[in-house]
Amino acid sequence: MQFVKSIKRVKRIVAAARRQRKTVGFVPTMGALHEGHLSLVRTACKKSDFVVVSIFVNPTQFEPHEDLRRYPRDLTKDLALLKNEGVDLVFAPSVRVLYPLDFKTRVTVHDLSSVLCGITRPHHFQGVTTIVLKLFNIVQPDIAVFGKKDYQQAVIIQRMVKDLNLDTRIVLGVIVREPDGLAMSSRNLHLSKHDRTNAVVLHQSLQWVKMAFKGGLTDTKKALQKMRRMIHNKGGKIDYIEAVDKNTLAPVKKLRKGTLLVVAVYFSSTRLIDNTVL
Ligand code: PAJ
Repeated sequence: MQFVKSIKRVKRIVAAARRQRKTVGFVPTMGALHEGHLSLVRTACKKSDFVVVSIFVNPTQFEPHEDLRRYPRDLTKDLALLKNEGVDLVFAPSVRVLYPLDFKTRVTVHDLSSVLCGITRPHHFQGVTTIVLKLFNIVQPDIAVFGKKDYQQAVIIQRMVKDLNLDTRIVLGVIVREPDGLAMSSRNLHLSKHDRTNAVVLHQSLQWVKMAFKGGLTDTKKALQKMRRMIHNKGGKIDYIEAVDKNTLAPVKKLRKGTLLVVAVYFSSTRLIDNTVL
């Protein structure tokens, strides 16, 4: 496994793989890797000959009040995990390599970026699309794997790929969960023991609606009300709970097969997201 910090070297190494007629798979991450990330890496390994993983805590996707320095970092551990998966190349550049001081460009996917998480995090998705397009241009992957854990992010990136005629195919990986159902996230490390126990309610409330839908419930209002009550009872402070169309992210009045249920909830100061598709 090669470990590279410079753009030039990544381009050179990927070009050499391409000359050997290898297909290139890519998994962008911000490090602090867990089984969720590793499942995407495994998918990339299965679907391509040469696998690139980036580790970069992207400052432009954090809001000014969000603490970028608090984001967990453990490069040594991440590299050991990736080596174990058979990754070919890890790209972990510094902030100044990707954002020189005279950097001026932003990529925005309109509308989709300003709903759901975009309401409390108005700059977030612009930061994501800007960095993902930069990384795609550097790596030029045939496929890139993203997790359904960040469903809105996946929808926005798929839109960007279509709108900008990129040649990368986006592959989505399922949400990997802890044994009790909590979706794996590097943010889980910030939860107190008490909050960690209660946070399971996110998954439980989504599962409740899933079961109720199977039993015939289609009233969105009723479903969301029940979720709100369950989460509130466990001390979660709700940012949003919505039932939306999984492609347009527009709210739906009636639950249908394919409806996306999405939640964002604070436990103390830690904001967790989760979702499920009916
Ligand atoms: P990060 O939060 O590190 O996540 C990297 C990828 O792992 C994303 O595609 C995310 O959806 C996926 N992921 C995280 N937790 C998961 C879980 N429990 N199960 C399955 N997949 C999971 O998302 C980002 O980084 C950044 O926004 C990035 C795309 C790298 C741009 O900076």
